[in-house]
This record gives sequence, C-alpha cells and structure tokens, in this order.
Amino acid sequence: MKKVGVAILGLGVVGGGTYKILKEHRELYQKSHKIDIVVEAVLERDIEKAVALGVEREKVAANIQEICSNPDVDIVVEVMGGVEPAKTFVLDCLHAGKSVVTSNKELFCKYNHELEVAAKKNHCGLFYEASCVGGVPVIRALLDNLQGNKILSMIGIINGTTNYILTKMSAEGVSYQEVLKEAQKLGYAEANPTADVEGYDAAYKLSILSSLAFHTKIPFSKIYREGITEISVTDIEYGKKFGYVLKLLATGKNGDNGIEVRVHPAFIKNSHPLASVNDSYNAVYITGDCVEDVMLYGRGAGALPTGSAIVGDIIYCATHSNYQYSTFKNTAEASPSTKFIENFESAYYIRLNAADKPGVLAKVSSVFSKCGISVAQMSQEGQTGEDGCVPLIFITHTTRENNVKKAVSLIDASEDIAKVAAVIRVVE
Ligand code: NDP
Ligand code: HSE
Repeated sequence: MKKVGVAILGLGVVGGGTYKILKEHRELYQKSHKIDIVVEAVLERDIEKAVALGVEREKVAANIQEICSNPDVDIVVEVMGGVEPAKTFVLDCLHAGKSVVTSNKELFCKYNHELEVAAKKNHCGLFYEASCVGGVPVIRALLDNLQGNKILSMIGIINGTTNYILTKMSAEGVSYQEVLKEAQKLGYAEANPTADVEGYDAAYKLSILSSLAFHTKIPFSKIYREGITEISVTDIEYGKKFGYVLKLLATGKNGDNGIEVRVHPAFIKNSHPLASVNDSYNAVYITGDCVEDVMLYGRGAGALPTGSAIVGDIIYCATHSNYQYSTFKNTAEASPSTKFIENFESAYYIRLNAADKPGVLAKVSSVFSKCGISVAQMSQEGQTGEDGCVPLIFITHTTRENNVKKAVSLIDASEDIAKVAAVIRVVE
C-alpha cells in the first residue's frame, strides 16, 4: 500500500479538525484509495495542544526546516493563517519538493502567483479547496466540472461568520457585536474578526473564485468591499416588510462590457434560493452559459467541514501526479486588457429620516429624478419622532451606483429636507 506522509502547520480549528479526520478515517482511505495517510509531523507553538489532540511529542517539529528535510513528509498542510510566516513556510516546502494543501485564503489571494511559480518549478501540487467556502467543493467545480461553460455570474454567501451574525440578527433582533462572540466561540471567525465583518475574508475568496471562473486574474484590489458593521436590526426589519432578506453577498459578473466584482450587504427576495442559506452555511449560485444555474451549498466554516476539504485535497494530491494550475496567466496584477466596471447597476433600498412637513416628498423626488433614479416602491414607517422626522423608505428600480451616490450627497446637503439613514443594494 502506498504510504503518504503528511505534515500539518498549525493545529488550531482547521488543523485540529484535519488531524481528527485523518486519524479516524485512516482505515477508510486504506480500503477506498489503497493509500495509508500518516501524519508524520506537526508545527505548533503550543506542544501541549498537539499532545492533547493525540500527536506524539517526537512528531512536533521544532521548525519548518525539520519538516522540509523530513523524507517521510510528502504533503504539507498549511492551516496557520495570515501571510507571514505562512508564505515563507509554504515556499520553503514547495522548494523542498513537498506538495502543499492550504486553507489560507488571504495568503492564496495575495500570493498565488508566487506560490504557483514555485509549485510548477518544483513539480509539486498546490491545492486550496478549503480556502473558499469551507467544506463546499466550489474550487474543484470551477476547475473541472464547469470548464465547458463561459461563467456569466457568481453570487455567493461565502463568509460563515457574517451569515451566522445576520441570521441571528434577523431571527432574534440582537446587535452584531453580541452575535460575533458566539461566532468566535464556534470557531467560524478569523483570528482578527475584522476580516469577516468588514468583508475582507469574502473579498479574498471572491478574488480566488472569480479569477478561476473568468479565466483572468482578479486581484483583491479590484474588488469593491463593504462589511456589515453599519447594518442595523431596524433595516433588516424594514426589509422584511418588502419581502427581503439581508445577506453579505459576493458578486462576480462577466458581461460584454467588462467584469464587476463586489462584496457588500444586499437585500434579496425571500424567494431567491440564496435567501434560505442561514447560520454558518454558505452557498455559491453560479450561472454558466450552457449549464444555466447551479447552486453549491454547505458549511462554509468550522473544524470538520473545512477539514473535509483539506483531506479531499490530500487524497487528490496523493492519487494524481499531473498537477493542475490556474487556467489563466497568473500574475500579481490584472491583465491590462481586463475591463472592470465600477459604476455597476443595481436596485437600492434607501432609508431617509425626513422632516414631516409639506413639500419634502416632492423635493426628494426631484433629487431622485435629477439623478436618474426611478422609484419602484415607497413607504412611510412609524410615527413622527421628537426631532420632527419620520422614516421614509424607497426601493428604486435598477440604476447606477454613481447615481445613488450623487443623490445621497444632494439629500444630505439639504439639511431641512432629510438625512440619509441607510443605503442597501437590492438584488431583484
Ligand atoms: P486558528 O487560529 O484556530 O489556528 C491557527 C493555528 O496555527 C493555531 O494553533 C496557531 O497557534 C498556529 N500557528 C500560527 N502561527 C504559527 C507559527 N508561526 N508556528 C506554529 N504554529 C502557528 O485558525 P483556523 O484554524 O480557524 O484558521 C486557519 C486558516 O484556515 C486561516 O487561514 C483561515 O482563514 C482558514 N480557514 C478557517 C476556517 C474556519 O472555519 N476556522 C474555514 C476555512 C478556512 P497559536 O495558537 O499558538 O497561535
Ligand atoms: N472566517 C471564515 C468564515 C472561515 O467565517 O467564513 C471560513 O473561511
């Protein structure tokens, strides 16, 4: 039987889950794949943590060089997170001829071009299924099964922490800070949860997924990004009255006029398939020109779901030798011929705190009309407050982002009319 030696760098949530799966399923893989996967080494600062998981003390390496020079290690699993020292360690391993499996989306998004060069040069595999959407096999689907298509669009709920938070805010009416602590306890959040709640994590993943889907490098810097920290329960509740659910969406579109890539909170109709993706579940809704709509759904975070993706990559690596790399010229920057659309189209939910006096609605309508915004629905909510203002909510027809920005600045400048309290994009 072929023996496959694995080293794990970092025994945290994902590393611990991976170790557990490999240990408990060793016989299964012996039977199903005729391979004996053995964890030969781990790199972990806290030796007792490794020992508590069942790792023999002598398998805890003192440094990365011990792993690089260990002839029993074939595949290195990087699950430490962050850019450094992860990047140096991964490059060291690739240069030592070890294949690498990683769940590190920040590292992969920012440096996949460098890592790929090292992997190709040293004839090593470089696998990253776990970097995007946890246990959901979206990378392999894009790299293999959907290759026959021109991918037209991809809309995803690709961050488990924010989906967990928004689900709880919607169901229980609690603020995002309160739920964040729960998401951290469950192991969904990044070491620095700002990456989750400000949309960086989703943007790293969208950069990786859209590069694969659109066969051109989409650097992180090209992705419009907004997080959920400004979202209030008030807007989630108002949105429900219009039949909407609020989600942090990652959107990639590849149209005739160019590519648009953005991460931001958005209202979607509660009849949309993505509307029922709750808690730490994630989903990616892909539209290809031949296959039409495909939705991949599952746990986007957590020890065992993410470990499942890592182990899938380990088995794939151990049973294949013709390693596959990007299906585009993988460079640090986008190709000069790739056009990006920043002034994208969308419908909008706009909440105003408007003075409750005659003529206000006419003035707001005049601003919208001047900015090329047409209103689809309007509603006055609640009673006039002590400040003499009342919440007015508008749902617009599809318009351009810059039209809305202009309208917001005009309304905010006319203090006696109204203040813009919230602007949320709407997927119709
Ligand atoms: P954790 O913080 O739980 O685990 C990271 C582990 O790596 C810790 O045990 C840490 O040790 C160890 N580590 C960090 N730096 C070093 C170092 N220099 N030398 C030795 N050990 C080190 O993170 P997660 O497991 O949650 O995430 C790991 C990676 O997987 C990240 O890139 C993350 O984005 C990604 N990911 C996470 C998912 C999840 O659900 N959590 C899902 C998908 C991807 P110490 O405790 O001493 O700092
Ligand atoms: N922090 C990430 C999330 C982990 O919440 O989705 C999975 O990539």
